[in-house]
Amino acid sequence: MNAHPRVAELDVHLTPDDLAAALRSDARAGLTATPKALPPKYFYDARGSELFEQITALPEYFPTRTERALLEGSVDRIAEASGADTIVELGSGSSAKTRLLLDAFLRAGTLRRYVPQDVSAAALRGALDALGAEYPDLELHGVVGDFTRDLGFLPRGGRRLLAFLGGTIGNLRPAERAAFLAHVRSVLEPGEQLLLGTGLVIDEEPLVAAYDDAAGVTAEFNRNVLHVLNRELGADFEPDSFAHVALWDAENEWIEMRLRAGRATRVRVAELDLEVDFAEGEEMRTEISAKFRPAGVRAMLGEAGFDLVRWWADDDRRFALSLATAV
Ligand SMILES: C[S@@+](CC[C@H](N)C(=O)[O-])C[C@H]1O[C@@H](n2cnc3c(N)ncnc32)[C@H](O)[C@@H]1O
Repeated sequence: MNAHPRVAELDVHLTPDDLAAALRSDARAGLTATPKALPPKYFYDARGSELFEQITALPEYFPTRTERALLEGSVDRIAEASGADTIVELGSGSSAKTRLLLDAFLRAGTLRRYVPQDVSAAALRGALDALGAEYPDLELHGVVGDFTRDLGFLPRGGRRLLAFLGGTIGNLRPAERAAFLAHVRSVLEPGEQLLLGTGLVIDEEPLVAAYDDAAGVTAEFNRNVLHVLNRELGADFEPDSFAHVALWDAENEWIEMRLRAGRATRVRVAELDLEVDFAEGEEMRTEISAKFRPAGVRAMLGEAGFDLVRWWADDDRRFALSLATAV
């Protein structure tokens, strides 16, 4: 073993200026829309990424531990079936569960390189520092980017497995999801594989509880987007005057997170030269988290040009992992 950790490469395809410009445009569009809405990627500054890590350990938040257990039971078979020398991961965050994959692919003797990609430079740097020390012989190549936009920059060559875990695909609306999967397929070579984590449709009560925990961590995570707007755009939101709302939309089969204004308020967004009125009780959408049925996962993969080759779900059918091959 090499005693010195390898210095990870970091490609930045989304600079702080790019992110600020995207935030300005998305905030203007979202705050002037009816109903008001913001894309979820802006939750994830350093504080938001840290809050998400806390969420993954909450008793109510079953997706992370369920997916972890599925990975524990399947990684060796995935490594065997894949033979990949490169694992690319989108929305990798802390890469906590990914270590199970890295270990299995190293045991199988094929892995040479790990390419985590995330919109959060802070989360990515933290993950790469830790991984560099834990896996001194692995080539680490981080990519700061937006997975809805920047997939063309992912390194090519070798044989790749692309992981998209955590049920993050559920944050995309159906049309965005289809475009995203088609884009993923277009950057893979035939025979390369996708490992996809999806939350499944279950009873409403445990699902809503997972997004509305008793300790209020998810509420803090949700309100964090207002802190981001205050800091980045000179807005004067009073985050504590907005209540966290999580509800199940049975028609669309997704959890929706919203922020509800506790009183009528006018918010000034200095950088946008914009004033925004919230009526008392008005709700702004901040995230959807779609849940899937097995047939729906197979269909969306098929439509994007993937063949589903293996499927793992827990006994309670709350979460699933799909291994699919690009055809
Ligand atoms: C729900 S968390 C999942 C994290 C990790 N994959 C897991 O399974 O625990 C979503 C992750 O995707 C990242 N993310 C959100 N939107 C993104 C985007 N448009 N492009 C790249 N990363 C994004 C966030 O920073 C965060 O790390």
